[in-house]
Amino acid sequence: MSKDRLVFAPSTKQYEKSQLLRENLDPNPIVQFNKWYQNAIASGESLPESVTLSTASLPSGRVSARVVLFKELDLRGFIVFSNWHTSKKNADIRSNPQAALTFFWKSLEQQVRIEGHTEFISQDESLEYFRTRPRESRIGAHASPQSQPVLSRQALDDKVGLARQKFEGVEDIPLPEGWGGLRIVPTEIEFWQGRANRVHDRFTYKRENEDSEWAIERLAP
Ligand SMILES: Cc1cc2nc3c(=O)[nH]c(=O)nc-3n(C[C@H](O)[C@H](O)[C@H](O)COP(=O)(O)O)c2cc1C
Repeated sequence: MSKDRLVFAPSTKQYEKSQLLRENLDPNPIVQFNKWYQNAIASGESLPESVTLSTASLPSGRVSARVVLFKELDLRGFIVFSNWHTSKKNADIRSNPQAALTFFWKSLEQQVRIEGHTEFISQDESLEYFRTRPRESRIGAHASPQSQPVLSRQALDDKVGLARQKFEGVEDIPLPEGWGGLRIVPTEIEFWQGRANRVHDRFTYKRENEDSEWAIERLAP
């Protein structure tokens, strides 16, 4: 074994929790997702709403990914909230409105992959969610120029302090500039269920665009 190698992980894990059958799939992948998501919540999966959001910058093609929290689902798509003013994901989305979400529910041995285009939800819809956040989180969103360099922890805490002062006595803190929801409108959704000996179940739903029908295919693992 190379002396330089720091990790070498033998493959011993078996995935045997469940199986996914074609006849059990809902024709609509968003409905199917909701079934799995509700099951992930009910099963006590830790942070089932945490999801990797991947974006790519054009023209370089550089890809970046980060974990965010999935907060809303409607029949059009999946909504996450962030800073669309200063963050890296913002710069990516402005250059290329395509994105992917990847959920992994470890205790259920399930993965869901979503690909599609993105659209910003309205200010009113964003405000509705913003108002549900604890006061200090709303203040934090005002104070933090997300993904921009900050000199020190103290400098960051000072920004929070200033925002706290600014909104003293203000019950209904306004939406920070550029802060809000992004909807990923899917054109492809894949459901992956781990199975024994790495012969997993995978089904993908695809459609040309939002107005076309979903087609379902089983994929080799
Ligand atoms: C569990 C978890 C949940 C997170 N939720 C969010 C979120 O909902 N929105 C968000 O903007 N960042 C969230 N973050 C922070 C992001 O991972 C990331 O640091 C931030 O969005 C800046 O990313 P960017 O520089 O690529 O734009 C979360 C991180 C973790 C680990």
